[in-house]
Amino acid sequence: MSVTRRHFLMQLAATSGYTAAYAAMTTLGLGAVGVTTAAAAAPLLPAPGSGKGLRVLVLGAGIAGLVSAWELRKAGYQVQVVEARERVGGRNWTIRDGTRIAYTDGSSQTARFDRGQYFNAGPARLPSHHQTILGYCREFGVALEAEVNTSRSAYFLPDAAKNKPAIQLRRAVNDARGRISELLAKAADAGALDRELSVADRQRLLAFLTVYGDLAPDKSFKGTERSGYTVFPGAAEQVGVRPEPLSLDELLDPDLWTSLIFDELLIFQPTMLQPVGGMDRIPAAFGQRLQKELRLNTEVTRIHNEADGVAVTVRHRASGKLETLRADYAITTFPLPVLAKVPSNFSPPVQQAIASTEYDTASKIAWQCPRFWETDSHIYGGISVVKHVTSLIWYPSGGFHQPNGTLVGCYNIGQAARDFTSQPLAAQFASSRQVIDRVHPGRGAALQRPVSVAWHKVPYSLGSWVHWATPAEPAYVLLNQPDGRVHFAGEYLSQIGAWQEGAALSAHHAVAAIAARVASSAATI
Ligand code: PHE
Repeated sequence: MSVTRRHFLMQLAATSGYTAAYAAMTTLGLGAVGVTTAAAAAPLLPAPGSGKGLRVLVLGAGIAGLVSAWELRKAGYQVQVVEARERVGGRNWTIRDGTRIAYTDGSSQTARFDRGQYFNAGPARLPSHHQTILGYCREFGVALEAEVNTSRSAYFLPDAAKNKPAIQLRRAVNDARGRISELLAKAADAGALDRELSVADRQRLLAFLTVYGDLAPDKSFKGTERSGYTVFPGAAEQVGVRPEPLSLDELLDPDLWTSLIFDELLIFQPTMLQPVGGMDRIPAAFGQRLQKELRLNTEVTRIHNEADGVAVTVRHRASGKLETLRADYAITTFPLPVLAKVPSNFSPPVQQAIASTEYDTASKIAWQCPRFWETDSHIYGGISVVKHVTSLIWYPSGGFHQPNGTLVGCYNIGQAARDFTSQPLAAQFASSRQVIDRVHPGRGAALQRPVSVAWHKVPYSLGSWVHWATPAEPAYVLLNQPDGRVHFAGEYLSQIGAWQEGAALSAHHAVAAIAARVASSAATI
C-alpha cells in the first residue's frame, strides 16, 4: 500500500468515527498480511522437555500471558503467571450479573443482568482465519457458535441529528449494486468502454451486470426484490410491496460506504465465531489448566534485569506484602500504559518506547431488554451502523427468541470515545437510548440496566490498543526484541493488533525467542 493511501486511512481513523476507523485499520492490516505468508511467519515453538530446569515469569494473564504460559509449560519450563486482577483474561472480559466494573477514578458500576445474559466488553468476535486462537478453542474444547456480525435486516442511520430515517442494509447494499451496475451498463452500451473491451466482452459484461445488479432487460435498474419489501408477499391476493429504490444521491453518502462492504472486509467475513456463553470461556479454559502456575491478585511493582536472571517484585494485593520472584527469563504482556508505571531497569530507549507509545481507547454500552429487534425488524444478530457518537447497535448472536437479550448500544473509539465517556454515565446512557429509539422507533423506553465499559479507565488495562503507523516504527521494532532477559508480548506487538489472534501469535514469538536463546546457550556450554 502506498504511503499516501496509508496516511489517508490513518487520518480517516483519527478524525472520523468508528466505521471509517474500521476500514482504515483493516486495510493497514491487510497490507501487512500481503507481505508474509502464515507459514513463513510462524515461529518455531519449543520442543517438549527443552525448557527443563528453567524458570520463566509471565507477567499478566491476558491472552498473551496465558498462551505464553501454556506453551512454556508444554516445553517443560517452570512457569509462574503473575496477574493483578482476581480473574484471568485481561481485556477479554465478559460481564454478567454481579460483575463489578471499577474505574481508576474510584467510581464503579455493578451489572444487573438476568441469568444467562452476558456482555463481552472487550473482544466479541473471532474471524474464521484466526486459527491460532481458534486452535486453542479446538485444543480445549471451548464450544463455539456463529457470531452474526452482519444482518441485511439491520440498519444504517444517516445522521442522527437530522431527522432522516434509518435505511435497511438490504436496500442499501442491493440498490447500490443495482445503481452502479446500471451506470456501468449504460457506459458500456454507449461505447464508453470500447477501448477496454472487445465486442464479445462488452456483451458478456452487459449480461453479467444484468445478473449482478438485477437490471431490467433494457439494462435499467428498477429496484430489486433483493432489497426487500415494505409489505411481504403473503397468502391469496397479498402481493409484496417494494420500497422505491434508493437514489444514487442517497447512496453516495460517504458514511454509508463502509456498511456496503462491511462483510467483505477480511476480518469481518462470515462465518465469524464466538464462544458459547461468553468470550471469557477462552481464558477460563487456559485458567483451569494453569491453576498451579497462576498467581492472581498479585501486582508487579518492579522489574529488574540481573546478570543471570530476572527479579520481579510483586505485591500481594490482599495482604499488601511484597515479595521478589526470580527466574531465568520473563515475558511481560502488560499493555504499555500499565508497563510504563512499573519501575524497571530497562534500557533508556526501551523505557522511552514504553512511555511514549500512545494507546487508543474503546468504550461499549450494553443494555438488557426484550428482543424487539427480532419481533419488529427480523434482526437476528448483526450490527446497525449509526452516524452518531455511539457508532452502532450490535444485536446478540445467540439466544434467539428468548424473552430478553443484551444489546450493545455503543462501541466507539479514539477521541470520540474519550469525549463521550468523560460525560456522566446517565448522559452516555441517554445518548445511546435516544439513538436506539431513532433506529427502533418507540423502543428506547424498553432499554434497561445499562452498563458502560471505557477501557482507558479500567485498571490494569488503561486503554484498548495501539495504532502503529508502520511496522517499522522504532518503538514497535524495539519492543519486539527482548531487553536483557525480559521479553515483551501482546496484541500490540503483532500485525494483527486489537485482536486475540495477535496476542496469541506475539506470545508464540516471545516463547520461541526464549527457546532460541536457551538452545544457543546450551550449544555453547
Ligand atoms: N478487534 C476489535 C473489534 O472487532 C477491534 C478492531 C476493530 C480491530 C476494527 C480492527 C478493525 O472490534
